[in-house]
Amino acid sequence: PKTNTIDLTIEKVTLAPDGFTRQLSTVNGQYPGPTIEVNKGDRILMKIRNKLGEPTAIHAHGMLQRGTPWYDGVPWMAQCVIPDDYEFTYNFTVPEEAGTHWYHAHETLQYVDGAFGALIVHDPDDPYKSEYDEEIIVMLNDYHHTNAQPLLKEFLTPEIPDNGLINGKNNFDCSKAPSGSKCVDNAGLAKFEFVKNKKYRLRIINTSAFSAFFFSIDKHEMEVIEADGSYTKRNKINRLPINVAQRYSVIVTANQPVDNYIMRSEFQKKCMPDAAANLPIIKAIVHYEGAPNDAEPKDNPWSDSLAECVDLDHKTLQPLKEEKIPEATKKFEFEIEFHKNKTGIVKAFLNGSSYIPDINFPTLDKIFKGKSSYERSANAYVFDKDGEVVDLYFINYDEGDHPFHIHGYQFWVLGTGDGDKVNKDELNTNNPIKRDTATIPGSGWMAIRFVSDNPGVWGIHCHMICYRSFRFCSLYCFFF
Ligand code: C2O
Repeated sequence: PKTNTIDLTIEKVTLAPDGFTRQLSTVNGQYPGPTIEVNKGDRILMKIRNKLGEPTAIHAHGMLQRGTPWYDGVPWMAQCVIPDDYEFTYNFTVPEEAGTHWYHAHETLQYVDGAFGALIVHDPDDPYKSEYDEEIIVMLNDYHHTNAQPLLKEFLTPEIPDNGLINGKNNFDCSKAPSGSKCVDNAGLAKFEFVKNKKYRLRIINTSAFSAFFFSIDKHEMEVIEADGSYTKRNKINRLPINVAQRYSVIVTANQPVDNYIMRSEFQKKCMPDAAANLPIIKAIVHYEGAPNDAEPKDNPWSDSLAECVDLDHKTLQPLKEEKIPEATKKFEFEIEFHKNKTGIVKAFLNGSSYIPDINFPTLDKIFKGKSSYERSANAYVFDKDGEVVDLYFINYDEGDHPFHIHGYQFWVLGTGDGDKVNKDELNTNNPIKRDTATIPGSGWMAIRFVSDNPGVWGIHCHMICYRSFRFCSLYCFFF
């Protein structure tokens, strides 16, 4: 194993990813931030220099932080924030986290303004290694032309993105930009180079604030082989649904005639406000070696119709290695609701409460120092015993879907469905996929299971940067 020292400076820089000039919270001046690539088993020293002008904290999404919960990067849960002009080094190993991951600021809405990047943990034992020649990282996100931060106060109405990007690029029609703004048309699309007959592993990451996408490449089938760091059986599809914070790897073979093709990321508009109807398809170019360079690719979209605002069917998404999963020893039910707080702001609630950080004393610290009064509060569940097998049933009373993420664990997705009752007959305890972010359908339910074998204080939250809530929709706190 190697120690990888990675220097990351978080700072505001003026850029124009889609031709529209704005200030972004960049990592090393780049948007998206630089990709971190390490091998399974390595140590990562992530040195953060905070030059943002405001406090921050960085979370490595997909890393389990086994034995190092204090490096999980959730402000006031795992650590104090890194003040402006300070440095902080995250120091952790990744013995089991091979896969496609990402890192992002976990303080307020900073990642929506750019503080994120890909984190790839290569696997020397990758069972699919011989099945592809090269790897390509594809980051998808919705994109706003205004700073996310001030929007927090006005989040009563849903925010429609101005655009969407693939690897930080897209064109924008500047006639839609407010007058006085600096904007140039045809900023350019991301371009991916294919060589005929080569096979590519695309590592796809949705780093959006709110938006779920369908990802596809015209004329090219894809085979899913990984979901959030779990290898899956090969699963052939043409359009890949991917929700906020989820990752997939797909193998794509360059088996089409030498030409240019459209890569597309389509907003799943059923779970967006009506005003999103006009949002364009986000495009990039797949250019085969030998094809003309600026030729406009033909429009050849896949026509498979898929359900929107739900995950790729977990029944077909099977783990590569069959695994007998343990019986649950504990069960909790969470009701997800949105309603107005005292100041009239709509917020997200889990069982009637929403996480409010104590900005004097991080929760993890309190636990260590024995000041555990917090732990029995409404925001937290406590596990006194190591190795409980925990079932979580979520009942979503909101019409919108919610991509839920748990820190410190991967969980088995036992099932999802419509209605306000978990349908026990529908649960798959046989060989379910294990991942860290899964979608609870709008007005629906999700059942998941995990083993509480990683002591720490771990957040659980919807990964949408809720326009309607404080920080991420309802950070909830778990202690193990
Ligand atoms: Cu991507 Cu709380 O995390």
